[in-house]
Amino acid sequence: MNLLIAVSGWDVTPWVERFAALLPDRKVVTLGEPFDRRDVHYAVSWKHPPGSLAGLPNLAAVFSLGAGVDHLMGDDRLPEAPIVRVVDPDLTDRMSEYVVLHCLMHLRRQRRHDAQQRDKVWDAAAHPPAAREVRVGVMGLGVLGRDATRKLNVMGFDVAGWSRSPKNAGDITTYSGDAGLVEFLARTDILVCLLPLTAETRGILNKELFARLAQGGRLGGPILVNAGRGGLQVEADILASLGDGTLKAATLDVFETEPLPPSSPLWSHPAVTVTPHNAATSEADAISAYIAGQIRRFEAGEPLANVVQRDLGY
Ligand SMILES: NC(=O)c1ccc[n+]([C@@H]2O[C@H](COP(=O)([O-])OP(=O)(O)OC[C@H]3O[C@@H](n4cnc5c(N)ncnc54)[C@H](OP(=O)(O)O)[C@@H]3O)[C@@H](O)[C@H]2O)c1
Repeated sequence: MNLLIAVSGWDVTPWVERFAALLPDRKVVTLGEPFDRRDVHYAVSWKHPPGSLAGLPNLAAVFSLGAGVDHLMGDDRLPEAPIVRVVDPDLTDRMSEYVVLHCLMHLRRQRRHDAQQRDKVWDAAAHPPAAREVRVGVMGLGVLGRDATRKLNVMGFDVAGWSRSPKNAGDITTYSGDAGLVEFLARTDILVCLLPLTAETRGILNKELFARLAQGGRLGGPILVNAGRGGLQVEADILASLGDGTLKAATLDVFETEPLPPSSPLWSHPAVTVTPHNAATSEADAISAYIAGQIRRFEAGEPLANVVQRDLGY
């Protein structure tokens, strides 16, 4: 009943230590060492090298170390075993902190105050609108989107959400599918993207979509906050839309290429806030406990939770 940890781009050591402590009755192995492929029952992946999970005949489940599974879907030799993603309050809370922080930063024009402080400018006349006067639209009403909409609502923003299938979300106005997208965008001053990256959503944050956002809102132009995945956005379109006024500002946590190359104009654009794909990090203690708990319950006869629908890609 061995556990294989297959990661790239992350230090594997903290994960090995935690899984070994949480599951002391089994062996934890990594791709970098010799192991018997027939003994592997569970694989834990973050951007595993494509093909490296093939040929594991007794694999019962693949666990993503993040909420997203786009890094798995790109592997055309991915085993047939169920794919389980992260749904954990630690990660969800982190994402909502990020979303609320950046919506408030734009509402209160904090970047301008930062610049004014550097220049010793006392501009008390600048009078920001109230949150209730600003319409936030959240793309994706899944685990992360629903929590973010709830917390934005508590802060007083006028919140709506958009998803693939229709939703009933209490105080939040909801829209769905292609039919609901135009109306959703037309009432959005701050667009928050918490979509998964799939064949359907790739490149969705493009200039045609930005042009449909509300004009005449209280922030002086539409603002984009993308904490979903870099593949959702067309960076050339973001830059062009900032240049011609279609967008007023953007907060980006994710990028077409990560780390964001030093040559990217996004780094130094005055209207862009860049964060290094850390809106909601997978904290090793919380996420290893979540996965070990799933394994224990599965072996006690319970079904796996948060299994991805492969045909939808999320
Ligand atoms: N930046 C970071 O640090 C970070 C951290 C964690 C996660 N993420 C990203 O956040 C994403 C969302 O996570 P989650 O846990 O909230 O996922 P989730 O629970 O699976 O929710 C996904 C939401 O997106 C909607 N959706 C999917 N495809 C759509 C489409 N074609 N059109 C309209 N709506 C669509 C779904 O609609 P339905 O409700 O109708 O299914 C659902 O509401 C992850 O996939 C990951 O990429 C980023």
